Amino acid sequence: MTQNLVKVKIWDVPTRLFHWGMLCLLGGLWWTAESAEMEWHQLLAYSLLILIGMRLLWGFIGSDTAKFSHFVHSPKTVLNYVRKTKQHGISASIGHNPIGGYMVVALISLVTLQLVTGLFATDEIFIEGPLYTTVNGDTALWLTWLHKKNFDLILILAAIHVLAVGVHMFKGDKIIAAMFSGYKRLPGELAQPLAFVSTLKAVMIVMVIGALVVNYLMLPIIEML
Ligand code: HEM
Ligand code: HEM
Repeated sequence: MTQNLVKVKIWDVPTRLFHWGMLCLLGGLWWTAESAEMEWHQLLAYSLLILIGMRLLWGFIGSDTAKFSHFVHSPKTVLNYVRKTKQHGISASIGHNPIGGYMVVALISLVTLQLVTGLFATDEIFIEGPLYTTVNGDTALWLTWLHKKNFDLILILAAIHVLAVGVHMFKGDKIIAAMFSGYKRLPGELAQPLAFVSTLKAVMIVMVIGALVVNYLMLPIIEML
């Protein structure tokens, strides 16, 4: 990986902002739950809802490397990738590698589950999620329990994810820098043409989802602050 390297754009702005924005919001959500700042907990959660909504849509209509079809592969492809990695060691890939792709799906799914269970959750004192009254008391308590346990699962998967990122970095695959800058240096023969969708399209998606979330979920809380 030291010869004939070319600079290739891998990640678009929306995907990078989504990743680091989600990381900051998850930290804030943990902190607000720990310190019982539940109004802020909800406001941060609804901000994350806007980001996740954008990312899920972006997985279908976004840039090539952000598309689910680009990184969710058949089990056969995953096995071939494992075999190749065993033989030749870790190599750089364009976008998520076949194993990483499944980790991405798992992380996004668990964070979405966290948001959905939060909508039904209660602290049994002041706070009830906006969908709390649509289910019976026992179901709401079970979803609150799931909300708490699922966060532990997110932390475990995130730790594995960070470990995998660390291994790639150790092997010279500079993926953290790429998630900041959007660019990677790759052997010329690996570089392939990628299509990137305008950031403006993602801004418009965020504005539409954002308008709904702010109006129906955030304003009622802001008015009570
Ligand atoms: C709770 C913590 C975290 C979660 C839930 C998380 C989740 C994700 C997700 C969903 C993606 C895919 C991005 C996309 O396609 O939209 C991703 C990619 C990535 N994450 Fe994280 N992440 C976390 C923490 C971190 C941290 C702390 C680092 C840095 C040390 C990191 C480095 C990366 C990198 C480098 C990629 C790109 C991987 C690749 O090249 O295939 N992540 N992460
Ligand atoms: C992805 C978004 C969210 C994350 C990461 C998150 C995270 C957490 C965490 C870490 C806890 C503490 C768990 C524990 O004590 O073991 C918690 C509790 C809670 N969350 Fe969330 N949450 C999210 C979304 C929501 C939403 C949308 C609501 C809606 C109101 C909500 C309401 C609650 C409630 C009521 C509790 C229980 C507090 C208690 O009993 O002390 N959460 N959440």
